[in-house]
Amino acid sequence: MCGITSYVGPRDAASVVLDGLTRLEYRGYDSAGIVSFDAGTTTTLKRAGKLANLQSAMAEQHLPGHRAVGHTRWATHGRPTNENAHPHVSEDGRLALVHNGIIENHAELRNRLEALGHVFTSETDSETLVHLIEEHDEGDLLTAVQEALKQVEGAYALVVAHAEGEGIVVARATSPLVIGLGDGEQFIASDVSALLPYTDRVVYLSDGEVAVVNETAVTLYGPDGAERSLDVDVIDWDADAADKGGWPHYMLKEIYEQPTVLQNTLAERFNEAGDDVTLDLTLDPATFDRIVVVAAGTASYAGMVGEAFLERLARIPCEVQVASEFRYAEPILDERTLVVAVSQSGETIDTLEAVREAKRAGAKTLAILNVRGSSIAREVDDILYIHAGPEIGVASTKAYLAMLAAFALLAVWVGRTRGALDAERAKAWIEELRTAPARVEEVLQRRPAVQDAVPLLDDARGVLYLGRGVNVASAFEGALKLKEITYLHAEAYPTGEMKHGPIALIDAATPVVALAPEGRLHAKTLSNLQEVRARDGRVLAIASDGDEAIASHADVILTVPRTSELLSPMLLAVPMQLLAYETAVRLGRDVDQPRNLAKSVTVE
Ligand code: G6P
Repeated sequence: MCGITSYVGPRDAASVVLDGLTRLEYRGYDSAGIVSFDAGTTTTLKRAGKLANLQSAMAEQHLPGHRAVGHTRWATHGRPTNENAHPHVSEDGRLALVHNGIIENHAELRNRLEALGHVFTSETDSETLVHLIEEHDEGDLLTAVQEALKQVEGAYALVVAHAEGEGIVVARATSPLVIGLGDGEQFIASDVSALLPYTDRVVYLSDGEVAVVNETAVTLYGPDGAERSLDVDVIDWDADAADKGGWPHYMLKEIYEQPTVLQNTLAERFNEAGDDVTLDLTLDPATFDRIVVVAAGTASYAGMVGEAFLERLARIPCEVQVASEFRYAEPILDERTLVVAVSQSGETIDTLEAVREAKRAGAKTLAILNVRGSSIAREVDDILYIHAGPEIGVASTKAYLAMLAAFALLAVWVGRTRGALDAERAKAWIEELRTAPARVEEVLQRRPAVQDAVPLLDDARGVLYLGRGVNVASAFEGALKLKEITYLHAEAYPTGEMKHGPIALIDAATPVVALAPEGRLHAKTLSNLQEVRARDGRVLAIASDGDEAIASHADVILTVPRTSELLSPMLLAVPMQLLAYETAVRLGRDVDQPRNLAKSVTVE
């Protein structure tokens, strides 16, 4: 949420920063700005709206210098206007900063600073920081920042520089910040994808750390002010992975990456006999009796599928809690509970806070994550990486499928270790899991059928997604995809629940997307679809290959290869992703940057 990039070195700093911002625009895109520092002066340019507005302004006005700090915003305090855009600059124009996060005591600080004569020009909480640092500035920016931060409550990733001097000062509390190490140049970003074209050597800041970043050196200080050595990580994502690579949208590219991503998630994670998994985890499944999954958005629906995997294969009680509610719900946790946090970014604050709550209660913690070095990665006991590569489209696709694969592995690991899953059943499940990449590839080839289905949603007032069993979760995920990028209202229900209320919504303007793969509940699903059709409802069914009965129960049929019920969510997700995508394109929506959303939500 909000993107930061900054640069110090021999290149034209503002161009590097702008390039970085284009890679981070998915973090927020309602306004953007850059400040550059050159020979004791600063030049600032800010524009409301998408980054393209700032880009055009920069074509007219050069931002000179070899130090620059930039930001792309997702508004929290104050509307997306030029004034509220970052960077925020001191009254004398010499000190400038960008900030991600929320300063919780900003109102109190602002009152105090206004009483001291500071004049505010924006409605943001972030501007407080520039005045506060200016107030403490006696010629040494590092000290001014350290002193100012002592009075700040809240979350921040902060990048600040002064017209005098040569460095950039950065600080972190909760909101992520990473320094990319170059040769005679340094880069700063809120997430590593901005750094991929420039360097693979990074230092993730920890909470409470402050650093001074100069062309040739990075000096890191702990919360106690003492200097610390740098812990350098090497990023294993390749730079091309974050490029659109000729695809019209990141989302479509990422949908088509799914077979490869599934292969990567599953790679080297099975034993030779093919009846167990080899996960690099330190946890011992004998030490917990219950699993609680915490996650937000798409990751929480992956968790619902994971719950079915864990309960059916490992016979361990599992429940899913929406992370934003978790810590306020007096959760029942103890040292025999395993809390599994699921997150693509590893930065979702709700999920991070849920992990903290779990740790306070003495529960064990495991995270299913995509981004290495992320905040959640730093706090949990164990990590299962999904290896999905950078996901840029705001609507999560490939990370979802990879999360399902990770849960499939986890269920085998827990089931085998606890003796609930025998070798034969494990082997059968693993064999099926290994077919997932090829089967997903097959579904992707059926995109033309999805394109033909899109007109069914023309003039839709709302769309009902229905599924049963493990695919109740699939229905929720399908409805979320549609909402996120088409802005059509969509609701998901267990198919059998339709008659208990949602059936009142059914009419010609409320089509139903029915998940009807073969399996034990198929016949019941068909009767429910009859009830829809008897009320003039139009049905788009997603069914298994060879299902002859479905024809008389649906207006449009999309098919997926036959699988077990447990594997079906991986296949059913794909036509629903494509349906949301094609509908959004048809409606002229901004697929990769839908309104109001942000890729990773680092505020509560
Ligand atoms: C935001 C995004 C969703 C995402 C959710 C959780 O709401 O818009 O697409 O599913 O955050 O993100 P995470 O990074 O924790 O998986």
